[in-house]
Amino acid sequence: MLHKKNTVGDRIDDDIFASADASTQLPKYKMPDGQHDARVVHRLVADELLLDGNSRQNLATFCQTWLEPEVVNLMTQTVDKNLVDKDEYPQTAEIEKRCVHILADLWNAPGASNATGTSTTGSSEAAMLGGMALLWRWRERREAAGKPAEKPNLVTGPVQVCWHKFCRYWGVELREIPMENGRYIMNGEEAVKRCDENTIGVVPTLGVTFTGQFEPVKEVSDALDVFEAKTGLGIPIHVDGASGGFLAPFLQPDLLWDFRLPRVKSINASGHKFGLAPLGVGWILWRDAEDLPEDLVFRVNYLGGDMADFALNFSRPGSQVIAQYYNFLRLGREGYHNIHSACRDEAIYLAQEIEKLGLFEIIYDGSDGIPALCWKLKDGIEHPFSLFDFADRLRVRGWQVPAYALPANLQDRVIQRILVRHGFSRDMADLLLDDFRRTIAHFKAHPVQTSMTEKEGGGFKHG
Ligand SMILES: Cc1ncc(COP(=O)(O)O)c(C=O)c1O
Repeated sequence: MLHKKNTVGDRIDDDIFASADASTQLPKYKMPDGQHDARVVHRLVADELLLDGNSRQNLATFCQTWLEPEVVNLMTQTVDKNLVDKDEYPQTAEIEKRCVHILADLWNAPGASNATGTSTTGSSEAAMLGGMALLWRWRERREAAGKPAEKPNLVTGPVQVCWHKFCRYWGVELREIPMENGRYIMNGEEAVKRCDENTIGVVPTLGVTFTGQFEPVKEVSDALDVFEAKTGLGIPIHVDGASGGFLAPFLQPDLLWDFRLPRVKSINASGHKFGLAPLGVGWILWRDAEDLPEDLVFRVNYLGGDMADFALNFSRPGSQVIAQYYNFLRLGREGYHNIHSACRDEAIYLAQEIEKLGLFEIIYDGSDGIPALCWKLKDGIEHPFSLFDFADRLRVRGWQVPAYALPANLQDRVIQRILVRHGFSRDMADLLLDDFRRTIAHFKAHPVQTSMTEKEGGGFKHG
């Protein structure tokens, strides 16, 4: 009898693509009534994901897209461990603590053993915790002085959206220093101008999301010292080191940005960015246990033992933290230095080569901040495309190189950015440059009639 795949029940030895499930549309928005063969459903779901971009060609993200097989292996072995169950998985809890100590040492906490901190799901959660500690401490100071504590504000440079979220969720006024022509980051003078008795803290970013540049933490700290001498207001600094927290210690060990500056009370960083861990881990550290208000720490005993919990999430995977620890041991300072400087060299190389194409002006070349580069279209030349068109056309070859408008006060300026991450070789850089040349040749032959306007190009990619 001929095989009738729609009427004959699936057999264990059916080819996946000859099975009944593979020849009907998968249910998309409603759960099916019955069960289905794991082998077939797994294949179909995996195949649907082929439509996603290729993560290694995603030059927009700051997050890791290449992992050693040992990391993948550790992740698989520990996928069932809940980080919050510290009593059940004491060794995972111990490893998390060790990571906090390693970071305290890396970020030069004065007595590394008295620094405190935790892992988080990423820098966004870490930023919430850091911001909350600033807010609580400010309230305490105001209340102790018998002054109103109703109008807190936070001073930042051009920040990642997590700080907008923090301010909105907790009712804090965000005083974000606008960009100016030629100045894309905060400086001491601009920061201090916006400080007053209601300022809960100043947040410089080590590795500004828009351009990749490091904000000058030492300069800001010095300016706040002068401000304190004049006004008596001691304003703490929290450093958003989402990327830079894992770069500066290896690439610029003499740069003063961390706990060597007494005014720096807390630091966040993303393990899954230049910490080289898989997606899903960030860190927040306070220079001293007393910088984390006790009021923010919850104690729970129903999982066994007495556990201190001061994250926004409760259950979280332990695997990423374990993989972070593996990286610390596997790579050491030398390994991190080597990987990050290889990325930095590729960023500088790409910036030089892109400049040579004659159409683009490099704004940042990766040499003293994040291994990244960004550029704008050169002024004074007729361009047959916008940067949005350019980004769109590069996707034909799978490259994701985002174009976006800058924030206030440079909303009219569109730039394009590349993040160079672990796993990006010289050969890959050259393949990308070939595609830049192909794309330019394409637009010269077929100038864009109605260029995608800057607005149509979509919003800024924060991630
Ligand atoms: C400066 C900065 N802060 C915070 C974040 C948010 O980090 P995460 O994605 O780890 O939550 C990012 C992400 O790109 C960032 O660049």
